[in-house]
Amino acid sequence: MTVTTPSRTYDVLIGAGVAMSSADRLRAALAGARKVHVFVDGSLRNATVVAFLAHVRNAGFEVRDSPVLVSEDAKVLQNLYHMLQPLAGRELDRADAVIALGGGIVGDMAGFAAASYRRGIRWINVPTTLLSMVDASVGGKTGVNLRVGLELQKNMLGAFWQPSLVLADPTLLESLDDRHYRSGLAECVKHALLSADWQDAELEQWMRANAALIVARDPDTLTELIARNVAIKARVVGTDEREESSGPSGRALLNLGHTFGHAIETLENVSPSPDRSLAPLHHGEAVALGLICAARTAELTRHVGDGFTDHLRGLLKTLHLPTAAHGLPAPAAIIERMHHDKKVLSGKLRLILPTGPGTCAVVPAPDDDVLHQAIEAIQA
Ligand SMILES: NC(=O)c1ccc[n+]([C@@H]2O[C@H](COP(=O)([O-])OP(=O)(O)OC[C@H]3O[C@@H](n4cnc5c(N)ncnc54)[C@H](O)[C@@H]3O)[C@@H](O)[C@H]2O)c1
Repeated sequence: MTVTTPSRTYDVLIGAGVAMSSADRLRAALAGARKVHVFVDGSLRNATVVAFLAHVRNAGFEVRDSPVLVSEDAKVLQNLYHMLQPLAGRELDRADAVIALGGGIVGDMAGFAAASYRRGIRWINVPTTLLSMVDASVGGKTGVNLRVGLELQKNMLGAFWQPSLVLADPTLLESLDDRHYRSGLAECVKHALLSADWQDAELEQWMRANAALIVARDPDTLTELIARNVAIKARVVGTDEREESSGPSGRALLNLGHTFGHAIETLENVSPSPDRSLAPLHHGEAVALGLICAARTAELTRHVGDGFTDHLRGLLKTLHLPTAAHGLPAPAAIIERMHHDKKVLSGKLRLILPTGPGTCAVVPAPDDDVLHQAIEAIQA
């Protein structure tokens, strides 16, 4: 699949084995490069990392690697500084390149390191979580969190810096735990809710019909799932690379479910099940719950008919995603957090809401009493 943006056009190769069998593609994407630095997610199997490094070396590059500390607390400027050290220490020049081998955190940080080092060198993204395959790896958003006082402001520093190639290999998901796998599925459901505007009106139906195979991580089903989601993401970012449009073709639509989701994601005691040791929520779990809130808001404001939220709940359940949160504070506290979300424009909160099967729109947020009822829809 090819992603075309004003700043760069690049390929996304999707399929079992592409990460370890792409020497020609690596050489083409990095023509002129001699040194490559690979940033590696420490949770990957050692054998996977060793094989990947050997593959890049055999493609003809001088390769070294560094581990990246993977947590939102560690996704900060201090650690980016440490990542830049080996690039400078090895004297990578402007023709050389970085590869990210990991989930969204490694991708965001390695991409930002590539964007910053010598004002920007090429990078290749090899995502290893479902979320990073279907979402984070395409679109060129890179960055780190910013600690301001006690608060960690997510992705507050960064750059739009498109990769030169993406290798999405579902076999890399074999070692990913179920909870992180399902988190990626939430982003797929989000895409399905806006897919009709992006030339794939059947995605939700296809996900319902293939839910068991998706949950079982059937390789062919996964390849199709990733490809259809990357296609949607690619079409959206192709029309609005830098999230400058809030219109019907804008990248802002990808924030569906995220304004509600962000407001509950960082609450320490909120859990996807009665087992509170599972708190806090993972990003995708918060997105799944945020999608329900957005659907319920759309129902209450008559953007969609009755039953839309229940229908969505059904899909989320078949994918083993949470449909209620345990330990939520009162809705008023969550609404307060939403008003502080970075998407607040000129003091007025805007939401992305479903408007029908596969279609969404950016609308001014309704009154707080509607938001209050929408949040009640996810209270366990
Ligand atoms: N750039 C974008 O457009 C974009 C979009 C969405 C999210 N993000 C960012 O992505 C991050 C979340 O990404 P994520 O969900 O991939 O989480 P992550 O990068 O935190 O990875 C999740 C966990 O899985 C582990 N892991 C990764 N690959 C593995 C594998 N194959 N086997 C076993 N364990 C593995 C990681 O070490 C980590 O513990 C957030 O920081 C978010 O802000 C970026």
